[in-house]
Amino acid sequence: MKKCFWALLCLSLAAPLVHADAGDIKARQQYMKDWRGLNKKMGAIIKKSDAQSFPAKEFALLAVQLNETANEPWQHYDADSRGEGSDAKAAVWEKPQEFQAAIKRFTDAAAELDKAAKTGSYDAVKVSFGKVGQSCKACHDKFKD
Ligand code: HEC
Repeated sequence: MKKCFWALLCLSLAAPLVHADAGDIKARQQYMKDWRGLNKKMGAIIKKSDAQSFPAKEFALLAVQLNETANEPWQHYDADSRGEGSDAKAAVWEKPQEFQAAIKRFTDAAAELDKAAKTGSYDAVKVSFGKVGQSCKACHDKFKD
């Protein structure tokens, strides 16, 4: 009993410090995983569709999720969230303006895709989806190991 008490106390004292960082890293990685899932689903729909068969509503539901979370991960990159368990490059913190520019390229692309999806135009969606993919990759090339 006594041992358990001390173990719990130590845990509760140590946890907030550890969690501040681990929490941010996990949170931002979780958004990225969600986006990978959305991207896979959207890519599969585009691949198996044409202008006639395109399931516009189904696609729009995915695009809106990407757009609505497009600004979420970036608050989890504060100065003390560098470190172990993260694939973020030092450039995130050393070149903040370039990181912001990469974020903007992505959020613009996600907004454009959402808009295109709402029009239901297969061709517009295809072009915008391509731009989203490029914006993911452009950021990863510079800012992710
Ligand atoms: C502005 C930069 C930026 C954009 C835009 C971006 N990412 Fe990322 N992504 C990162 C960084 C940085 C990491 C590493 C995060 C970490 O480990 O701390 C990452 C990690 C990931 C991971 C790995 C997550 C894990 O399991 O650890 C996946 C998957 C991913 N991104 C997918 C995407 C997809 C899909 C998009 C576009 C829809 C996207 N990313 C857009 C910067 C970006």
